[in-house]
Amino acid sequence: MSKPTAPEYSDIQALARFGHGRLKAARFLLLIIRDAKQAGEWIQSVPVSSAEWTESPSQTALQIALSAEGLRAIGLSDEVVEGFSEAFISGMSADSNRSRRLGDIGENAPDKWQWGGSVTTVPHLLLMLYAKNGQLSAWSETVMDQRFGQAFTVIADLDTVDSNSIEPFGFADGISQPAIDWERKQSTDLHRRDRFSNLLSLGELLLGYPNEYGQYTERPLIDPASDQQAELLPVAEEHPNLHDLGRNGSYLVMRQLHQDVPAFWRYIDQQVQGDPQEREQLASRMVGRQRDGTPLVGPAEQPVEGINTTGNAAALNQFDFDNDPLGQQCPIGSHIRRSNPRTGDFPPGVTGLLTRFVRIFGFGRKHPADDLIASTRFHRLLRRGRVYGEQLSQEVALKPKTKKGQRGLHFICLVASISRQFEFVQNAWSMGSKFGGVQNENDPLLGNRAPLSDGESTNHFSQPDAKGPAHCIHAMPQFVTVQGGAYFFMPGIRALRYITSFTESRGGPKS
Ligand code: HEM
Repeated sequence: MSKPTAPEYSDIQALARFGHGRLKAARFLLLIIRDAKQAGEWIQSVPVSSAEWTESPSQTALQIALSAEGLRAIGLSDEVVEGFSEAFISGMSADSNRSRRLGDIGENAPDKWQWGGSVTTVPHLLLMLYAKNGQLSAWSETVMDQRFGQAFTVIADLDTVDSNSIEPFGFADGISQPAIDWERKQSTDLHRRDRFSNLLSLGELLLGYPNEYGQYTERPLIDPASDQQAELLPVAEEHPNLHDLGRNGSYLVMRQLHQDVPAFWRYIDQQVQGDPQEREQLASRMVGRQRDGTPLVGPAEQPVEGINTTGNAAALNQFDFDNDPLGQQCPIGSHIRRSNPRTGDFPPGVTGLLTRFVRIFGFGRKHPADDLIASTRFHRLLRRGRVYGEQLSQEVALKPKTKKGQRGLHFICLVASISRQFEFVQNAWSMGSKFGGVQNENDPLLGNRAPLSDGESTNHFSQPDAKGPAHCIHAMPQFVTVQGGAYFFMPGIRALRYITSFTESRGGPKS
């Protein structure tokens, strides 16, 4: 059992703890480092927001994350960068196998991206600026001073809109998030989670802490004997002689996801022959929630750990899918069920030691789909995205003359393992054409609908019905297109100081 510890909020970037929901205006800048010395000095001069809670919350916030190329460009040695995970070093777009696994083929292919798709457009640095409505341009001017201009080239300047937490298809978003065990009160020994639990070990969000396996995720550990600057970093918990560049930092995944809102509503409208009630029903079954966020299944029989049991959070989130094993209330293939199937380590009802063994060896299933979905707690994401583009009502979207326009989601999530968390969800659950017993489908919102190598289609969506055969719709087009993406590391605040120390002590840029 680990001892409860005080969270090191002052060393953690605020975005890991808060979504900056009160700061409705946001802007994301993707930068290439032109002059490493200036870049280092600029980073040291700006007020990076920490996760420490203050009584008088700030009117603005600023967060920084760097890609592997960015870490190298600012002066980190290859040896240190190689201590990060393979996915981070390789990047989102450089490897065609990775692109295929992520569904980044066809219209989603990196060579069509506006940024991040080729060596010259992979950003070095992501600057995230947040402010109260009306204050973002003044805040940007303060931050993007003369030195900023000398240090960086802006490759993309991504606007966002205050959409009142409604994503462009018209659904309430940002409702379900994992709860983080900041004080490390839960056991880090290999605990079991028979049922779905929403409470996650700190090491599933931040590097340098035990994760849900009770292990430390890989990250660069630096020997102060060979690098004096290592003293700037906290000591590694499991290796007290080494200093931890990862501690209090997270990987940050960013994807620019264009949403074709007219195509979404027109396809649905066509399927239901224009019936407004059925239109709402089909759309909500694709998402897994009604437009206002109401879940399609009833509350869980026993409270789910890590979710409030009272108020709005309970009404919107106190559920799992144990009482809907066939997806008759919330289709198995719906977006929220694919993104978080709310499973425990064993399917419902498997409690005794003997039954566990029977299940481990693959026997005793009640439904053909049982055991096919991995335990959710190893594959959670903390979402921090923002919407962009002018919102379109369903009514306007349905008008034949409405063009698809530029709108969508700047998807951002924070994880401690890009491959086990983001890539697993994106590949196995969202893009998987076989998921929990359903076939020939991928995520109804995110899917690229590309046929499989054997010609099997992936453009169906099935809605099981307790009263008869499943309703299956076909030839669903692609509604979401990837237009940019990259993997970043959002360091702890001491780690940011270490990363920028090379330009001052070692005489400027390496590249
Ligand atoms: C344009 C693209 C997307 C749209 C329109 C969208 C929309 C939504 C909506 C409406 C919800 C329900 C509200 C909520 O629970 O917060 C949701 C939940 C969620 N989405 Fe997405 N999403 C998109 C992309 C993604 C991507 C790329 C991922 C991950 C690979 C993802 C992962 C999740 C997760 C984990 C949840 C919470 C599920 C739960 O815990 O119940 N989404 N999304």
